[in-house]
Amino acid sequence: MRIVMVGSGYVGLVSGACFADFGHSVVCVDKDAAKIEALQQGRIPIFEPGLSELVAKNARDGRLVFTTDLATAVAGAEAVFIGVGTPSRRGDGHADLSYVFDAAREIAHSLTGYCVVVTKSTVPVGTGDEIERILREERPEIDVSVASNPEFLREGAAIQDFKRPDRIVVGCEDERAKEVMTQVYRPLYLNQAPLLFTSRRTSELIKYAANAFLATKIGFINEIADLCEATGANVQEVARGIGLDNRIGSKFLHAGPGYGGSCFPKDTLALIRTANDYATPLSIVESVVTSNDKRKRAMARRVIAACGGEVRGKTIALLGLTFKPNTDDMREAPSIAIIQALQDAGAKVRAYDPEGVEQAQAVLSGVDYAASAFECVTGADAVCLVTEWDEFRALDLARVKGLLNTPIMVDLRNVYRPDEVRKLGFTYLSVGRA
Ligand code: UDX
Repeated sequence: MRIVMVGSGYVGLVSGACFADFGHSVVCVDKDAAKIEALQQGRIPIFEPGLSELVAKNARDGRLVFTTDLATAVAGAEAVFIGVGTPSRRGDGHADLSYVFDAAREIAHSLTGYCVVVTKSTVPVGTGDEIERILREERPEIDVSVASNPEFLREGAAIQDFKRPDRIVVGCEDERAKEVMTQVYRPLYLNQAPLLFTSRRTSELIKYAANAFLATKIGFINEIADLCEATGANVQEVARGIGLDNRIGSKFLHAGPGYGGSCFPKDTLALIRTANDYATPLSIVESVVTSNDKRKRAMARRVIAACGGEVRGKTIALLGLTFKPNTDDMREAPSIAIIQALQDAGAKVRAYDPEGVEQAQAVLSGVDYAASAFECVTGADAVCLVTEWDEFRALDLARVKGLLNTPIMVDLRNVYRPDEVRKLGFTYLSVGRA
């Protein structure tokens, strides 16, 4: 099939490369000429395991092409996906749909025959209706369907998530669109991935409901972690004890410094705004957002407490900056709020991250960057593990202790076992474990 992906950011690039790998002929379009030129030369603008190999292979085989020329790409395509950004609109938290609507207008002028225009971007319920209205307004005579097909990709595991999805959700309003979308996902369907067809509005809402539910799970276990600390219980055992109940499920019950990233914070806010617009407030989701916001700075207070209540003039070593491992993404990373709170309390912050330093430099100020975990802890007054990169999972702790000024460790991801670390002579604080 001939597929076009409008927007070659995270979602567009991963989806485009995976569709090409299924054997479809894919053109990825972006307005950013520098990005397209880089992609044409095989340089991938984001860090995602396996992506550059997948892009290289499919580009070499001629199934994956990059261009800024939307009109030529769209002419003759059977499905055109919109995968542009929907950032939080400044001021009100609504999703900013201007890029989506601009793309729809441009697509309208380039269509030559029947085509399904599909939103992959995360868009509030009802956006598909508006896209359809725009298409018909711009080109009253065209034969087009509009579908919704949300992505559920986790950064760092996006290719695996695309190729082995728990489900594929497609929202459309007519049989022709359903037929095209069935063909698009045929390779996965043959692998028995459930393909769930719903109405377009339902599909749009599924995406937000899924992210809000996952954020709620994390928010819930984080508050239970606080209760565990107060009562002497162990949150990891609580998570296992509840997660083995099939109705609950064991995933997304890792207590930590709060969720971050490009999706949960933005999508929960947008969902709350939509719900308020429809006069059906989502008080549970509102609580989750508040709880998560408070939690990030609370983690800095934990570090300060571990240092005896005072960090002025002290150096705190941070291991990990990105919102999670295997990504260079710093968006809404808990490390940002933690660092700012530590700096507000007078601490100097030195940080190390395997992939995120370049992005971190754009959002943080006054931070020293180290080239390795060991360099980071050298001479520091405490070390705080913020992101659970693999390389922090089996650090030589005796060496870390020797390099630190004072052997204080705050492990916000529960990577280590308290008894083992304490045996080495550390003051050790983690999350939800007495
Ligand atoms: C998420 C969704 O998982 C994905 O389906 C959606 O399409 C986009 O948003 P992503 O943001 O890449 O993906 O990361 P995810 O692995 O879901 O983690 C999000 C945040 O939650 C991270 O900050 C992570 O550290 C945190 N988290 C996750 C926890 O604190 N505990 C957990 O148990 C799981």
